[in-house]
Amino acid sequence: WNYHLTHFVTSAPDIRHLPADTGIEVAFAGRSNAGKSSALNTLTNQKSLARTSKTPGRTQLINLFQVAEGYRLVDLPGYGYAEVPEETKLKWQRSLAEYLHDRHCLKGLVVLMDIRHPLKELDRQMILWAVQSGREVLVLLTKADKLASGARKAQLNAVREEAKTFLGTVEVELFSSLKKIGVDKLSQKLDSWYRD
Ligand code: GTP
Ligand code: MG
Repeated sequence: WNYHLTHFVTSAPDIRHLPADTGIEVAFAGRSNAGKSSALNTLTNQKSLARTSKTPGRTQLINLFQVAEGYRLVDLPGYGYAEVPEETKLKWQRSLAEYLHDRHCLKGLVVLMDIRHPLKELDRQMILWAVQSGREVLVLLTKADKLASGARKAQLNAVREEAKTFLGTVEVELFSSLKKIGVDKLSQKLDSWYRD
């Protein structure tokens, strides 16, 4: 697959506003500010396909992109951001839960976590949810450029060790949008999910 050809399709506040539930979708999920939108831009080699921001909570809608006819990528709103009003937070959480539960074409979830703050409560819940509903999971430890290589490897091994406690296979890789680390690993994984 040539991810560079990816283009924007639509933004939706909830799953009722999404296009037909057919084909194969892969969603990027993670805490606010984890680097989801940046990772999508890095994968697709486009500067501003997905909107990024220093301010957590930038992505508030379900954003759909198309790699090819019937093959989509999804940028989900981040979870766990404390500064938004409770009502807004609940609304996001509801549409997120609904998306994960009811979107049949959702094949896999890429769960992104800042390498310096991995596996927070909501990350664990997200992974568990995905595994239990039979979805594939790839964990990316983002902003790997923020750690020196020794610390980076140690953190990777620690998270891989923890990932074994989830049922099913949860793979963990390093990622950096800044230094282009892990981009090939990500695209290979997506290729395999899109294959069948
Ligand atoms: P929400 O949409 O709010 O949930 O955030 P997000 O997960 O989409 O994060 P986004 O991609 O907008 O990035 C958040 C911040 O982290 C921005 O300031 C990015 O420049 C920065 N960032 C993202 N990826 C990297 C990376 O690989 N390395 C470094 N150093 N910074 C990064
Ligand atoms: Mg975003």
